[in-house]
Amino acid sequence: MKFQKICIIGLGYIGLPTASTFATHGLNVLGVDIKPHIIETLNKGEVHIHEPGLSEVVRKAIQSGKFTAALKPEEADAFIIAVPTPFQENKFGEYNGVAYKLADMRAVISAAESIMPFLKKGNLVILESTSPPRTTVDLVAPILARSGLEAGLDFHLAYSPERVLPGQIMRELIENARVIGGVNSESAQAGHDLYATFVKGQIVQTDATTAEMVKLMENTHRDVNIAIANEFSRLADKFGVDVWEAISLANLHPRIKILSPGPGVGGHCISVDPWFFVEAAPELSPLIYHSRKVNDAQPEFVVKITERALGALDNKKIAVLGLAYKPDVDDLRESPANEIVHMLQEKSAQVKAWEPYNPDAIMPGINMAPSLDEAIKDADAILLLVKHTEFGTLNPEAIAKKTKARIVIDTVNGWDSEMWKNAGFQFFRLGDSKSKTTN
Ligand SMILES: NC(=O)c1ccc[n+]([C@@H]2O[C@H](COP(=O)([O-])OP(=O)(O)OC[C@H]3O[C@@H](n4cnc5c(N)ncnc54)[C@H](O)[C@@H]3O)[C@@H](O)[C@H]2O)c1
Repeated sequence: MKFQKICIIGLGYIGLPTASTFATHGLNVLGVDIKPHIIETLNKGEVHIHEPGLSEVVRKAIQSGKFTAALKPEEADAFIIAVPTPFQENKFGEYNGVAYKLADMRAVISAAESIMPFLKKGNLVILESTSPPRTTVDLVAPILARSGLEAGLDFHLAYSPERVLPGQIMRELIENARVIGGVNSESAQAGHDLYATFVKGQIVQTDATTAEMVKLMENTHRDVNIAIANEFSRLADKFGVDVWEAISLANLHPRIKILSPGPGVGGHCISVDPWFFVEAAPELSPLIYHSRKVNDAQPEFVVKITERALGALDNKKIAVLGLAYKPDVDDLRESPANEIVHMLQEKSAQVKAWEPYNPDAIMPGINMAPSLDEAIKDADAILLLVKHTEFGTLNPEAIAKKTKARIVIDTVNGWDSEMWKNAGFQFFRLGDSKSKTTN
């Protein structure tokens, strides 16, 4: 199938890199978003999100005239939906007395409805948003059928999961293997033909529900494996063991690869997607459910270690380093660090947070410091919550001169305990009950 014009619905971390990359590979692209400020920013050639290499590609795409942004879709050869699929904030499902989170599919529904009036015979529609199993066939196809056209018969419909790593999106979009699941084989082939415009990785065709499940399995596998690492960190703490040492020794076994524990699991993928399985089949997913619960409880463990280091937290001044949900990104959504700050404040600690990737972010209820120096100046303790590269290179001797704090708490194994101790700090590390006793 040949494509001249495509329309991409949702211009965030996934939609915008995808739209601009299609445009720089020769297609005419209309990017659609419901937020007017995004449309205005993009049409000026500027970018509203931080992703290395993205602004250059967007600028090139806009200048070439191949990429424009608008608030409404138009007729096109293909439509790609890349809108958010978070979970619902205040509504829960229930199974055997336990509550589970529910997917919020309103953006996918309204995106599909916005395409419907422009759908023509022979078009291709692709859902990229991470979605519960059977969304393409049971939710999107019926909405599009209101156009009078039938998926798989009159137009092609497919699901294609996105597995790019924030921070590396522009490279991985092109190089990663891509799965295309069609509602029939012609739809999968049409999806293949579209992404072959720029994808250099393998493009594998399957059915839509398999492709949906592949994406959820990838993130659930990671979540469950992080949960066991987090549980190990609590066990090590109880038994006077350094979990980091124990994991590195266990990983010497040729068939063992235990992941790293940390302050919790965040972001809008790994902490969200496993719930889609639980919602779809709670009776079949007890392991997935409990892994989510373990990871969601890890911020409490961080607070416990902070109390161990500082005693009662009321009026204690804590400099928090890092608010992003993972290292070297500016994305603060669903971040465990955010939750930890609120939990510390509930215990009357005075927290100043320094996030070098997003210093101007407005985080409700969080006191954002304008600089590292400002965050640590009057602090009683420094709490490392994200393993940003630049935190790893901090010099403890230099920090000691800039802060009153003599306690550091490392939740990500980002620092060398000996260096901090030699600079006069008491050192506490998550999952390492040895760290405070050796000096
Ligand atoms: N960001 C990632 O690293 C990543 C990786 C894999 C999969 N995903 C999945 O991709 C999907 C999109 O994620 P994202 O990170 O790009 O989200 P995002 O929040 O960065 O961007 C989504 C954009 O869609 C817009 N939008 C919402 N409803 C709309 C509508 N009805 N019509 C047009 N625009 C609409 C929003 O204004 C926003 O700009 C999600 O399902 C996510 O789980 C994301």
